[in-house]
Amino acid sequence: GGDDTNALKMDEPHPESLLDTGAQDVIGKPLDRIDGPLKVAGRATYAAEYDLDNVAYGFLVGSTVGKGKVVDLHAEIAKAVPGVIDVITDYKTFLRNPGQGGETKSPTQGVESVDYWGEPVAIVVGESYEAARDGAYRLQQAIDFETKEGRYNLDAYRDEAKTPPPGVIPPDYKQGDVEKALAEAAVTLDATYDTPSQNSAAMELHASIASWDEDGRLTIHGAYQMPSSDRQQLADALGLSKDKVRIIARYVGGGFGSKLGIAPESVAAAVAAKTLGRPVKAVMARQQVFDATVRRSDTEQRVRLGADADGRITAIAHETLGSNLPGEGFFEPTGASTHFVYPGENRLITHRVVELDRLLSGSMRAPGEAVGMLATESAMDELADKIGMDPIELRRRNEPEQDPQKQVPFSTRQVVPALDKGAELFGWDKRKGVAEDRRGEWFHGLGVATAARSNVLQPSAAKVTIDGQGRAIVETDMTDIGTGTYTILAQITAEILGLPIEVVTVHLGDTDAPPGAGSGGSWGAGSSGSSVYLACEALRKQVADKMGVAAETMTMKDGRVIADNRSVPLAELVGDGMSATGEIKPGKQEKETTQASYGAHFVEVAVNAVTGEVRVVRMLGVFAGGRILNEKTARSQCIGGMVFGIGGALTEEIVHDPRNGRVANRDLAEYHVPANADVPQIEVHFLPERDVHANPIHAKGLGELGISGAGAAIANAIHNAVGVRVRSFPITLDKLL
Ligand code: MOS
Repeated sequence: GGDDTNALKMDEPHPESLLDTGAQDVIGKPLDRIDGPLKVAGRATYAAEYDLDNVAYGFLVGSTVGKGKVVDLHAEIAKAVPGVIDVITDYKTFLRNPGQGGETKSPTQGVESVDYWGEPVAIVVGESYEAARDGAYRLQQAIDFETKEGRYNLDAYRDEAKTPPPGVIPPDYKQGDVEKALAEAAVTLDATYDTPSQNSAAMELHASIASWDEDGRLTIHGAYQMPSSDRQQLADALGLSKDKVRIIARYVGGGFGSKLGIAPESVAAAVAAKTLGRPVKAVMARQQVFDATVRRSDTEQRVRLGADADGRITAIAHETLGSNLPGEGFFEPTGASTHFVYPGENRLITHRVVELDRLLSGSMRAPGEAVGMLATESAMDELADKIGMDPIELRRRNEPEQDPQKQVPFSTRQVVPALDKGAELFGWDKRKGVAEDRRGEWFHGLGVATAARSNVLQPSAAKVTIDGQGRAIVETDMTDIGTGTYTILAQITAEILGLPIEVVTVHLGDTDAPPGAGSGGSWGAGSSGSSVYLACEALRKQVADKMGVAAETMTMKDGRVIADNRSVPLAELVGDGMSATGEIKPGKQEKETTQASYGAHFVEVAVNAVTGEVRVVRMLGVFAGGRILNEKTARSQCIGGMVFGIGGALTEEIVHDPRNGRVANRDLAEYHVPANADVPQIEVHFLPERDVHANPIHAKGLGELGISGAGAAIANAIHNAVGVRVRSFPITLDKLL
């Protein structure tokens, strides 16, 4: 059969989508996950669960000083533990999780240097996990460190903040004259908000099993969001060419940013496996994930708004501060959505970074919007209060007609429809004044916030094959981190090739397959879905050729090809089978339109009048993110985001020891991600939408939309309940009393 490549660069809008004309009627349907039965039966194999022959177990040893160096490791202490095979340290310079933006500093400080508390300095390898762990803990107590003076506190070094290199947004944006506009504004707000360091807290621990074959090729069974770029990072760290590294990550138990890049256990396992000449499995303990993978930066955010007497914003300033290790390029893009959500002629959006000797900061769950909109959407509520205007009305009056900075159209934008629909469904008209709804010990309050999250198209490739039996096979190194990728790629394939979904098999997470978009930045479904779409489109043309008709005149349905009054089984037409590869790339559309997903959050809280305890009573979100590919998996994405909104508003906070930067609360008991008891009934509604500027399947990002703004709606509801405005997140009960 044929084999060709169908490549599309998004230079032009793409109004026609085969998903609108497919006859299978499977796209968009709330289908159960096709991988669901495997997962609930424990038969989906996660990174640490592979059984490799003759495997040894590695356990990392973290430093017990914040900044310093190893003087004497005393490896013999670990080696004396029965079952310990070796202690390996010579990979030290490569242990740091590579940075996630700008120029990443290459490690030059020598093998013994310690840059943050818990940074791995060795890996102990044993015949069993228990032996390796015992050796590692004994060793950790015995290492002689020299302690150097470090910087651990953002507040103390704020005056030394630096301007970072450009990341996903530029660090500085200036337009007009903010100071003058503020001075002339009828109403102004000047408020400073802060958010703490946070941890992605994925359920699955970071884990790698490294094995080398006789040709010097490394295979890592690992936990990754982005196999194609992670493969490059591993190759760089180990001094290999990319084709010498294979990553297998078929099932991933959540990432939330922490698995965008490689983590220390991967390189350590690879070096240990090479040294020992046998496979090495290294699983980080939960505490080590907190210590030595990646955190979201703490932030301080000054928001100033100026408006005329009618509430129209004339000036907007969002000046932000974050932290990272010295020399790192990444900064939390806290002002990301401030660039485009609200109008205002006079604008100032800045990002500064304080260099601290604490664990690397990087992307986590809607980097930028998740914490930035806690501040800006709280500020909008504060401004509405000052004017004495309903906060929905304030937002309605500040709906820009086009991107206020780039002066280009929004590809789609449904903020006001989402606010209107949400208000109606939620019963916004029943909202009372501040502290006016007391029911016994509990004050109730309602809050609202806008949701917005930039849409990104990531280059992605996928191969689709129709085999001799008329079944379809999808192959890409894209991942499913719990999002539903397996299912939506099968739905797209089934829809376009006219197949029952049961005969579509999807293979993900293997870098031997074409490089997919990976799972990050909410681009997974739109990007990898488009590459599968393009492969299927090419296959339709191949099928049409065999049928002797034009593809547009042909219907594919239930495994049959129908044209010219003929109906032929697909299996008969394809012979031995046929394959095609689809490739999507971003193009001019990205610059010619501003692309984002939007929505509105509504929250009811109850605040205890005696204890200050906050309970979220109900949440409702209305979202527009282009075509919904699977209403069930899409809804789950949004619910998950809203739950993380509760975390950001009320519970999640890394506490750094001010003496050494150490993460003091390094497990899921002390670092509280909302659990069932914290999560009320959550309602999610979607607005119909197609975005022809985004990609050929017209779908945009959803995963991180649900979190963007959600926490602010909670903060705003708390204010409505009790009249207390807490600007320091999370809003714990002590801050309300
Ligand atoms: Mo996301 S924080 O880009 O995994």
